[in-house]
Amino acid sequence: MAYKKTNQSKLHLVIPDVHAEPGDDLDRLSAAMNLACDHQPDHVIQIGDLGDFGAFSTHEEPGSLTDIEANEDHWADFEVMERAVGELEIYGLPTTITLGNHEDRVNRYIDKNPRCKKAYNFMANSGLKDSHIKTVPYGRHTIIDGILYTHVPMNKMGRPIGSVAGIKRFTLGAKANAVVYGHTHKFDAPHFDVEADHSLKSAINVGCLFEGHGAYMNKAAVCYWRGVTLLRVYKKGPPDIETISMNRLLSEWG
Ligand SMILES: [Fe+2]
Ligand SMILES: [Fe+2]
Repeated sequence: MAYKKTNQSKLHLVIPDVHAEPGDDLDRLSAAMNLACDHQPDHVIQIGDLGDFGAFSTHEEPGSLTDIEANEDHWADFEVMERAVGELEIYGLPTTITLGNHEDRVNRYIDKNPRCKKAYNFMANSGLKDSHIKTVPYGRHTIIDGILYTHVPMNKMGRPIGSVAGIKRFTLGAKANAVVYGHTHKFDAPHFDVEADHSLKSAINVGCLFEGHGAYMNKAAVCYWRGVTLLRVYKKGPPDIETISMNRLLSEWG
């Protein structure tokens, strides 16, 4: 059943880390967009790490410019990102991507290898430049209807915040009713007391939308939550949270 629209609330669909890789069928992302078509959210937010950009994680020096232009692994990463961006665009809904550290791999690669500037342009090669999707650079945030979205909250040193105490400080300090982020691939939604006015703020860590595999998981937790999150957002207080697991997403909207 589609959500009832009211003047008092907005509906946001949050799509967490997808980590699209070359050869990816992206069925889970199509299912998320079919759900979006059913519910017609006021805004779709993809929280970053939409593409994995595995080929850009190498620290090897590239060869000649011709080698760079012919690097099939790099172009395969751009190709799957472009397809993922196309999926997000399919129903023309207002959409924002808060870019993740995996998208940022391309910029870091170009910074380290300035000759690549001629060959690669993240926004153009990913199809974002010509899309209607708004992007927020990695490490920055955006506030939509009073909710702060970022790939991962950063401390003053520009490092991702990992501790619960750090997340609490960031959330209570934010000029927003809630903080929504991805990156850890876990699901968590603690509420924190705003003591001054006896209200609550939540920090919603939205899980991920891909099947992990051993090579990637390296040091990260394996038991993360997969699915998407619908937020009903009010003018005051934390949003209502409805999670839709990847199992349900694929069985009902796949
Ligand atoms: Fe991620
Ligand atoms: Fe990340």
